[in-house]
Amino acid sequence: MGHSVALNFADGKTFFISVNNDELLLDAAIRQGINLPLDCREGVCATCQGQCETGIYEQDYVDEDALSERDLAERKMLACQTRVKSNAAFFFDHDSTICNAGETLKIETKVTNVELVSETTAILHLDASRYKEKLQFLPGQYARLQIPETEDWRSYSFANRPNETNQLQFLIRLLPDGVMSNYLRDRCQVGQSLFIEAPLGSFYLREVERPLVFVAGGTGLSAFLGMLDNLAEQPNAPSVQLYYGVTSENDLCEQSRLHAYAEKLTNFSYHPIVTKASENWQGKAGYIHEHLNKDQLAEQAFDMYLCGPPPMIEAVKTWLDQQTLQNYRIYSEKFLQSNTSRN
Ligand code: FES
Repeated sequence: MGHSVALNFADGKTFFISVNNDELLLDAAIRQGINLPLDCREGVCATCQGQCETGIYEQDYVDEDALSERDLAERKMLACQTRVKSNAAFFFDHDSTICNAGETLKIETKVTNVELVSETTAILHLDASRYKEKLQFLPGQYARLQIPETEDWRSYSFANRPNETNQLQFLIRLLPDGVMSNYLRDRCQVGQSLFIEAPLGSFYLREVERPLVFVAGGTGLSAFLGMLDNLAEQPNAPSVQLYYGVTSENDLCEQSRLHAYAEKLTNFSYHPIVTKASENWQGKAGYIHEHLNKDQLAEQAFDMYLCGPPPMIEAVKTWLDQQTLQNYRIYSEKFLQSNTSRN
């Protein structure tokens, strides 16, 4: 059986292919209709260059003019020379249209539940089992959902990991007047058809090599639920700190699920932070960047993932710039709470 390999492109599209053990990645992609750019096919011209983001791979021959030692250390690779040895994800820094890769998958799902998980947040549960293959996506990616009986689409991060029965979850902020919010409140019914387009987005969990710091603002939590579900299945998951910021304590959701990760992940810490806390709130108050622990972060290299409203992300990045921390990587996804469209 082949390895499941995600090919991610600069336009945010992802295509999953199957790659046999001794097959070259380039050959597998072309066999499945994704024509990665190529020229020499001999590891010299670097036209087929990409970067491995998760997984194990080997390369047959790489000319020193094609990739430097530093490139190799950064896991840059040549598709015409790459053989994958596990499930993996690769990034190519050009649009998928160059490869004639076609459209992202659009499938019909059925609504199975709208679960109110805080005063301002719901989880929309969808059954995508009419799609007979396992719907594949990377933890942290998102789907576009078409609001039934309209031409409107909205984007939401998956709130769980891919599964054999294609049961999907999306954490959705309920706005006083929003096209999805109004639909969920007024017209949504169990069994109703709802079309989705997926997978999309470049915000997903990379190769986990060092401690992780997750920073979620509002329903940005959704992306991390999928990542945490995935990490909880890994035997040697690294330490994970989750900072989850909301406006009021009534906005906090999925608290039992978040606390339960501490039982599955040996080194997991969870920090809810409320911006406008009531006098009854006993926990951390203010903004997330005010609670990041510089001394602890200085102890070792880490990867930080941020998902939420632009001001939150900018505040954390500014805070990081002001510290003397050396060795960290940042991955972020901004979205606007008002219409949940990504930018
Ligand atoms: S096609 Fe030239 S290095 Fe791969």
